[in-house]
Amino acid sequence: MFKNRRQNLVNLIISKYPEVKNGIILIFGGFEKSGQRFRQESSFFYFSGINEPATVALVKLDGQSDLYIPNSSTRANWVESTIDLDKAKKLGFDNLQELGSPIRGYELHPFFTEQEYKNLISTIEQTIKSGGKIFALNPKNQHEYFEQRFILDRINHFISGFLNSVIDISQLIAQLRRKKSKEEIEKLYKAVGVTIDGQDAAISLIGKDKFEYEVQAGIEYTFIASNSGIAFPSIVGSGPNSTVLHYNSNSRQMKNGDLVVVDIGAEFEHYCGDITRTYPVSGRFTKRQREIYDLVLECQQYIEMLAKPGMWLSNKDRPEESLNHLAREFFKERGYDQYFLHGLGHFLGLDVHDVGDYSEPLQVGDVITIEPGLYIAQEQLGVRIEDNYWIVEDGVVCLSEHLPKDADEIEKLVLQK
Ligand code: GLY
Ligand code: MN
Repeated sequence: MFKNRRQNLVNLIISKYPEVKNGIILIFGGFEKSGQRFRQESSFFYFSGINEPATVALVKLDGQSDLYIPNSSTRANWVESTIDLDKAKKLGFDNLQELGSPIRGYELHPFFTEQEYKNLISTIEQTIKSGGKIFALNPKNQHEYFEQRFILDRINHFISGFLNSVIDISQLIAQLRRKKSKEEIEKLYKAVGVTIDGQDAAISLIGKDKFEYEVQAGIEYTFIASNSGIAFPSIVGSGPNSTVLHYNSNSRQMKNGDLVVVDIGAEFEHYCGDITRTYPVSGRFTKRQREIYDLVLECQQYIEMLAKPGMWLSNKDRPEESLNHLAREFFKERGYDQYFLHGLGHFLGLDVHDVGDYSEPLQVGDVITIEPGLYIAQEQLGVRIEDNYWIVEDGVVCLSEHLPKDADEIEKLVLQK
């Protein structure tokens, strides 16, 4: 599977750059960060299947690929997941190489020395000397692929003019990663299933005088107990915090009369779920809360009905076919658009906010969130409802359809817990 993905990337590059006859693709694994659980860089994982930090995949235009690893004799004393030739071959690599001379400890750091990278540097130099190009993740925006770009800059310190030979392939990779295979959909279903279990745990813990962090603890226990990780900081925002979009200090004591927004995601085998529900702490919505809740739900159902290949997630030049603009229009017609404070949704996959070009219409195989919300700060009233959808030929499949969201059902669930 990983080898096929690398071949698909090679094919895409050859069709996009037919004039380039000589070149290599370089994709870098992420670095470990002290005090944090390691999470592999998603594009590197997509093409390598490898969860080891600071490794590098080098793919040639004939489809052959080499895996480079830091040269450490002590790594196996520290971590369980070291790489050997056997593992690399299972993932379709042809060779396993050391990046350079021995590193000082068991982990390679971003400010690695030229010596520690010398074997790869020598291969890159040979490629450039023979007129070859380097295909790598080097987009020109402010936020994407920080580590990939840092390493490219680091190599540029050692090979003068290196960056002049680099061609950015972030858009091509986004195009490939965006279309999910059956295997990926299965993993997403699993991540969504565990996220639903997390919502069930939240329901059982919400109540008067409970602290938001107690609800968070139950959710995250459920994730870990299901062999899953936490895809992003869990949001449990009650009362005034329900109107803070990415609230996550989760420190307030809940009161009857509050709404509580629970926006959470489990990560299963690198794939992320992202589901939001809004609950009344007492088990009963007030009339006003229910009015807003029903409006948000109606908006989600309206958009869900329209979502299909050919529509856009967000395209300001085609507002009548753009789900984001249609949702905003829906709220505007009802006098509430000033309270819809974020976009309607995003791609979902190896990253919670997954790669994918918003200026391309939706296609079969995309997975997106649809998450309208209204946030009325002066009333301490925030509602968000978010589900995860797989785009198919004639519309969408809701991966999280088993999790109730009708206001009566939500009340029943909170009351009977
Ligand atoms: N679940 C958080 C977000 O989509 O931004
Ligand atoms: Mn989301």
